Amino acid sequence: MTLNAAKSGSFKIAGDIEVHRLGYGAMRITGEGIWGVPKDRAECLRTLKRLPELGINFIDTANSYGPDVSERLIREALHPYDGMLIATKAGLERPGPNNWTLNGRPDYLIDETRKSLQKLGIEQIALWQLHRIDPKVPAAEQFDAVKFLLDNKLIKHAGLSQVSVADIEDASKVFDVATVQNKYNLIDRGSEDVVDFCEKKGIGFIPWYPLASGDLARPGSLLDRIAVKHGAAPSQIALAWVLKRSPVMLPIPGTSQVKHLEENVAAAEIILTDDEFQELNRASQSKSAP
Ligand SMILES: NC(=O)c1ccc[n+]([C@@H]2O[C@H](COP(=O)([O-])OP(=O)(O)OC[C@H]3O[C@@H](n4cnc5c(N)ncnc54)[C@H](OP(=O)(O)O)[C@@H]3O)[C@@H](O)[C@H]2O)c1
Repeated sequence: MTLNAAKSGSFKIAGDIEVHRLGYGAMRITGEGIWGVPKDRAECLRTLKRLPELGINFIDTANSYGPDVSERLIREALHPYDGMLIATKAGLERPGPNNWTLNGRPDYLIDETRKSLQKLGIEQIALWQLHRIDPKVPAAEQFDAVKFLLDNKLIKHAGLSQVSVADIEDASKVFDVATVQNKYNLIDRGSEDVVDFCEKKGIGFIPWYPLASGDLARPGSLLDRIAVKHGAAPSQIALAWVLKRSPVMLPIPGTSQVKHLEENVAAAEIILTDDEFQELNRASQSKSAP
């Protein structure tokens, strides 16, 4: 079997940059608590170098992963990123392991974007996302900072993270929202309205934590039975379900291991039937598999 993320289909971000829908999240190539260097740096580099071989051309990272560690490792492994889109973010500061503090001050967002350009070794970030809208700073000031980044060509396209439909509508008055990155998976469906809105508007929806299936994967459950039928792991079925949910869905499963990366890419091969999709949909909405 030839593993290739191309089997997940393609999506044009902002109608401009075409990527394979199955991407890669680079938060896990850091130390414990998404802090410092990873325990097995060599395996993280092998994982990153395997991405283009597997047809993955969309990578998600952030200034705060490490901090800085993820962006620097991506550069070490993949620069000059031939045909790959490296998306990064700012808006969260890191005082320590597992500690995330919002910072949406315009000067911080702009400085951090300049630093990301240096760390990644590029002149323009193809897709930059506001990691969070900081409630301590007027949203309009944060959106104006994003517009500054676009107008000054530090970034080509911009997106948002962990937002509501109303947030997207507000931001869209200031800049074109290319992508939205919210937590979404088979068992966390809090962003259904956002997925539908993004599909209607042609905005890429990037679900984070896409592999989760929780209790639904218990032995003998519906998810387990469907996984056995497809000769797959429950996490692969969870990913196949997310991919089938919408053509604007761009999942970015994150891993620090080549073995897991290959398993995740293999999920692009799995085509769930409409019945399987709906059964899983119902089971996850009721939060317990029959
Ligand atoms: N915008 C935001 O606020 C936000 C928040 C969180 C994450 N993100 C982004 O979303 C990406 C994905 O989110 P996530 O990392 O939280 O969740 P995830 O990709 O659903 O899960 C990652 C976890 O699953 C493990 N894993 C990956 N593939 C596996 C496999 N095939 N079999 C068994 N275990 C596997 C990983 O460990 P191993 O390393 O051992 O494989 C890791 O612990 C991140 O990398 C980041 O880019 C964004």
